[in-house]
Amino acid sequence: MALLPILRFPDPRLKKVALPITNVDNGIRRLAADMAETMYEAPGIGLAATQVDVHKRLMVIDVSEEKNALCVFINPEIVNQAGSETGEEGCLSVPGIYDKVERAAEVTVRYLDLDGKPQQLAADGLLAVCIQHEIDHLNGKVFVDHLSQLKQTRIRNKMAKQARVTA
Ligand code: NI
Repeated sequence: MALLPILRFPDPRLKKVALPITNVDNGIRRLAADMAETMYEAPGIGLAATQVDVHKRLMVIDVSEEKNALCVFINPEIVNQAGSETGEEGCLSVPGIYDKVERAAEVTVRYLDLDGKPQQLAADGLLAVCIQHEIDHLNGKVFVDHLSQLKQTRIRNKMAKQARVTA
């Protein structure tokens, strides 16, 4: 396994729309394992392939306290959603920035597992938020895009400052 570099907002590669995975092979399973390792090491609760500059529809999530409940979603698609909830979000691609985003409170997601088998999952709470956040990434969107223009400008400036400090 290997740790993968995570793209930082406002890297334009975060805006790419990821393509569906047509064949769940060992390359995809290896990518999922590397992404999980990268997510746990960061540490984070979710990571989309877009964030490691691979533009395929794959994302990993683990919202458990013990970090022992890895979920891998291939070609995830929300087929049902209900309610709305506003919660504070952060992102490994936007380190140090947290803000409130409104999301559906409950979602049902269809996806393929690591064997290429179709699965369906109904989620609420943090898992539902995380699923929506990661699918956004696969569609070239970061949570910052949900905020006001003023906040987006502030975040861009802050990220530019951070990049200068760590460069
Ligand atoms: Ni994110």
